[in-house]
Amino acid sequence: MSRLVVVSNRVAIPGENRAGGLAVALQAALGERGGLWFGWSGRTVRGDSGEVHEQREGDIRYVTVDLNRTDLDGYYNGFSNRTLWPLLHFRLDLVDYDRATREGYRRVNALFADRLAPLLREDDTVWIHDYHLIPLAALLRERGIGCRIGFFLHVPVPSADLLMAMPDHQRLMSTLYAYDLIGFQTRRDKDRFQSYVRLYGGGRILDDDVLEAPGGRRFRTGAFPISIDTRHIARQAASAMAKPAVRQLRTSLEGRMLAIGVDRLDYSKGLPERFHGFERYLQRHPDQRGSLTYLQIAPVSRGDVGEYQQLRSQLEQIAGHINGGHAEPDWTPLRYVNRNFPHGTLTGFYRSARVGLVTPLRDGMNLVAKEYVAAQDPQDPGVLVLSLLAGAAQEMTDALLVNPHDLDGVADAIATAAAMPLARRKERWQAMMEHLLRHDIHAWRRDYLHALEAC
Ligand code: G6P
Repeated sequence: MSRLVVVSNRVAIPGENRAGGLAVALQAALGERGGLWFGWSGRTVRGDSGEVHEQREGDIRYVTVDLNRTDLDGYYNGFSNRTLWPLLHFRLDLVDYDRATREGYRRVNALFADRLAPLLREDDTVWIHDYHLIPLAALLRERGIGCRIGFFLHVPVPSADLLMAMPDHQRLMSTLYAYDLIGFQTRRDKDRFQSYVRLYGGGRILDDDVLEAPGGRRFRTGAFPISIDTRHIARQAASAMAKPAVRQLRTSLEGRMLAIGVDRLDYSKGLPERFHGFERYLQRHPDQRGSLTYLQIAPVSRGDVGEYQQLRSQLEQIAGHINGGHAEPDWTPLRYVNRNFPHGTLTGFYRSARVGLVTPLRDGMNLVAKEYVAAQDPQDPGVLVLSLLAGAAQEMTDALLVNPHDLDGVADAIATAAAMPLARRKERWQAMMEHLLRHDIHAWRRDYLHALEAC
């Protein structure tokens, strides 16, 4: 078996507590097979970018690179998170395009290629992740790297007409043609990418998900829905019930049911809409009044980006408004917390919640939805309320599926979930859990790498 080299912007360096599904999933994938994990160190330094750090834990070797403020602003805050992130999440209205940040993005990708190329061997399998690193394979090829290189996009692909609205879209998108396999979360993402290649990318779609780039180079595409370490999370959740933080939360509920949401503070997660949907629930279902407390955990994310700062103050305002209008001296309907918790503790919170609220406006997959299901008590499982616009909705079809823009629909789904009899809860949960046991993170990694190694 060839050595596995994983590359992503975020690296889950041992001992650090990271928000975001990607780092958690890659940790689980690399843990099984071992290999090298390369990416940004998470540090912003004075002076030049490019210093390399290395550490090892078990079979994983971590190699990370420091970036300075200018590079980070161009590459990460700028082009990745103010141009590509909103574009890929269908938010053309939020796209900020700037040639200077585009140049920063290219510069940092070239720096990563410079640092990574000397570490690579001819028979390595290189697996590059997400929108931060789209041009990396092309830059490695320019440096003479001929080994197999695959890409996996963790976020959605919007329609071809949105993609082509980005200035100079072909210049970026055509760098994808240097990969051997491009993986997407769902078939719809893959199909939209293929339409782009056909309509605006100058390429052709041959049979069986093989594509031909303008110069004749062939590569593959495929859908590989990412997943979780299902068995591990189920065990972790059961033992988390003894943790002080989980016990304190349960005691504080005073017998009320819990609804939970856990999301990075990001506009793609639909948090203002969710808060309004919860308020609508309080208004439309007075019979359930006081029987359910909603806990929203939303660690601050990308705090240097203006849109994220605005979202934070908007949510504070809405949360204050809801509690001001509905709280009682002895009950606060909405608890809103901006910090992150250790992953184990979160699984205990999930298991304590009768309702899991996952209502993004767009999401590549959403692993919180899957983790919520895996964390449930088989004897008394909770109910997942899930957005139709998350990739996870393609698989978690026994959730209560909602359109996050339909506040009445979200309100009614919360009420239905809170009142659902045990037998129906078990039925729905079992169907989803069986799926997650078969399609876990290990299956995802194996399926992808088999496809890549077959290229
Ligand atoms: C999403 C992206 C990941 C990213 C994560 C956390 O899941 O697909 O690539 O790592 O968000 O965001 P951050 O900007 O903190 O890395």
